[in-house]
Amino acid sequence: MTALQVALLGYGTVGKGVYQTIHQHQARIRKLLGREVKVAAVLVKDLSKHELPDQEVILTDQFSDILGIEHIDVVIDAIVGVEPGFTYLQEAIKKGCHVITANKEMFAYHSSTLQNLAAEHGVTVGFEATVAGGIPIIQTLKKLLNANKVQSLQGILNGTSNFILTKMREEQLSFSEALTLAQQLGYAEADPANDIEGHDAFYKAVILSEVLFGEQPVWEDTVREGIAEITIDQIDYFHSLGLRFKHVASLEKAADAIKCSVKPVLVSSSHPLYQVENVQNAINIEADIVGSISLQGPGAGMFPTASAIIEDLIHIDDKEYIPCFDEELSPVSSATASVWVIL
Ligand code: HSE
Repeated sequence: MTALQVALLGYGTVGKGVYQTIHQHQARIRKLLGREVKVAAVLVKDLSKHELPDQEVILTDQFSDILGIEHIDVVIDAIVGVEPGFTYLQEAIKKGCHVITANKEMFAYHSSTLQNLAAEHGVTVGFEATVAGGIPIIQTLKKLLNANKVQSLQGILNGTSNFILTKMREEQLSFSEALTLAQQLGYAEADPANDIEGHDAFYKAVILSEVLFGEQPVWEDTVREGIAEITIDQIDYFHSLGLRFKHVASLEKAADAIKCSVKPVLVSSSHPLYQVENVQNAINIEADIVGSISLQGPGAGMFPTASAIIEDLIHIDDKEYIPCFDEELSPVSSATASVWVIL
């Protein structure tokens, strides 16, 4: 069988992680997919800053070069910002390519347009990497929690802000020292305001809302507060009371609307998010049949994000699930009692 031809948009932390993972795990991927995966081309902004390990792979700064390649099966988007990613992915879909994206901002704005366009053209949109790094939350919600109705979700969806809060408490680093460290480790966004002001977690919550409830919350009605005002003194004081600050995104399906917030919250040691530290993300879900479940894992970084993209890649030919959003919710079968102190 011919190789699955992939074009990679972006060769930063995520793009490099995908490129390396495809090469390092080629044998395993081939076995799972039934054919080899070949990176045919990589799109970068500045050609002078990049060199690929394999000289046969086309390195270009023009998206038209990617579209000009005779046969590309999958376009993987590892660039940031709404544009040019949105335009590139629309063009790729129209050309009959499957697309996989890690671009949460773009996808929060345009998921419906891209998914409708993909359905028209008989291709798939993979977006596992848009939410919670390496945690397989999207495929879990889409494929493994279909019979359940999810009523609410709370999560730590931004690795950088969780890393900063952890380092401020554990190592008494100042806010800016902890942020610099997160940037050096490749966790933070190009504009870290997205992390610390809660925009990034909000985009992820919006994407989860569409998967869970078939619609987004009203953006203007969302409470969004960042962590930049939190001081080491506050962290230490509440720590002495057995409480930790967490930057929590919440979603809840109310009778007439979806409630969404992203804000700092104090959690007690009995809460599942209490021990989620450093760059880890976690998501707690309340669903009507299963009750309360939690997923935890690395929320940012080169290989956790590459993992999410590769998992989408090996499922690229799977049948799309048919969501069912129209039933009334029934009461939760079991509840977890936790102390939450909301600032
Ligand atoms: N800046 C993001 C974070 C990267 O820290 O969570 C992963 O989406």
